[in-house]
Amino acid sequence: MNARQLMIILVVLVGFGCEGDPTPPPASSTPAPPPAPAPEPNPHASLFAALPAAPATASAARIDLGRMLYMDKRLSKNHDIACASCHPLDGFGADGQPTSPGHKGARGTRNSPTTLNSALNVAQFWDGRAATLADQAKGPVLNPVEMAHKDEASVVIILQTIPGYVTAFAAAFPDADPPLSYDTMAEAIAVFEAGLVTPSRFDAWLSGTPDALTEAELVGLDTFVRTGCTACHAGVGIGGASYQKLGLVKPYPTADEGRFAVTGEEADRFVFKVPSLRNVAQTGPWLHDGSVTDLGEMVALMARFQLGKELQQDEIGAIVTFLGSLTGELDADYGVTPELPASGPNTPKPDPS
Ligand code: HEC
Ligand code: HEC
Repeated sequence: MNARQLMIILVVLVGFGCEGDPTPPPASSTPAPPPAPAPEPNPHASLFAALPAAPATASAARIDLGRMLYMDKRLSKNHDIACASCHPLDGFGADGQPTSPGHKGARGTRNSPTTLNSALNVAQFWDGRAATLADQAKGPVLNPVEMAHKDEASVVIILQTIPGYVTAFAAAFPDADPPLSYDTMAEAIAVFEAGLVTPSRFDAWLSGTPDALTEAELVGLDTFVRTGCTACHAGVGIGGASYQKLGLVKPYPTADEGRFAVTGEEADRFVFKVPSLRNVAQTGPWLHDGSVTDLGEMVALMARFQLGKELQQDEIGAIVTFLGSLTGELDADYGVTPELPASGPNTPKPDPS
């Protein structure tokens, strides 16, 4: 192209560009102002991750079955306690008690952790003794102070004698042989639990909505990070990813030896799974034994025993305010209490003994 053709193209382009444009072109002597810089991303955001969309790894039939089993009291010996009794979904997956009443009102020594977002955990239980949610679900049904069934067979008999369950297991596990077993029961509960996710305002903020958090919550986030809480409580669960000693810097008085009972390793004495802090403002009382009833006190205690720091009241308040932004919402349809299939004529009766 020669100079004249180039000239014509430029004239045409400039002409179109100016058409209807009320702003005069800048005088050639003043350079155009540089574009406004993009807002600095908050440096703390990279320590965390927003909740991923719930994985669609299971069929609706399997999830629906898991929901029924989670809510069904016939999974307990006296037909009076369901998973949902200690982990109610209208109560953020925890029952608000230091320890929970199980069969005949007996209580274990540990606080019921929430089942919400538990699929994010590195393992299940305060001491991590169950590797997966399915392994975990097999525990409480046979635990004498929880649902107290004698053995796996007595649970399977109950399910086999409830016609609605026979159909539901067949639909949920068409390839399993047999479709209804203690293992498939646990698997169905686990896939249901995997969908118990609660996106929060903190997730909205992490996903790029800067005003999803208030100024006060951002101050709290900054205090949380600067105090060093993220050494243990970071990532997508804001915890849940590692094991740490309770009383890392200063010995914490507790009778529970935590992971030591699982591994027998001296280094695991008083080591617990770092809990996820999602919904933590709603899941008190706190700590493995449910002994702490005030969230501010819990924060102060963490700073003192895990980090060797004494926090000021305003710092404690700021962190508590930030923790409130981790409260999320469970999809109302997902957590709904379903209608349960009726017992059959041969279904074993409740056993209060
Ligand atoms: C009597 C109360 C009770 C019942 C019933 C009960 N749980 Fe729990 N659950 C607990 C307690 C207490 C713990 C913690 C025990 C520990 O860590 O040693 C726990 C732990 C869990 C955890 C681990 C969460 C985490 O963050 O580590 C999951 C998941 C769970 N239960 C699911 C279930 C399911 C599914 C059922 C029904 C099959 C069920 N629970 C029945 C009290 C109960
Ligand atoms: C060295 C690791 C570590 C650090 C640092 C740490 N935590 Fe923890 N946090 C834990 C462990 C482990 C537990 C569970 C201990 C137990 O229950 O016995 C826990 C429990 C909690 C709980 C109670 C959760 C529940 O569901 O009961 C809260 C709240 C908490 N931490 C907040 C904080 C805050 C705020 C900070 C910073 C001031 C912090 N943590 C620093 C390891 C840590």
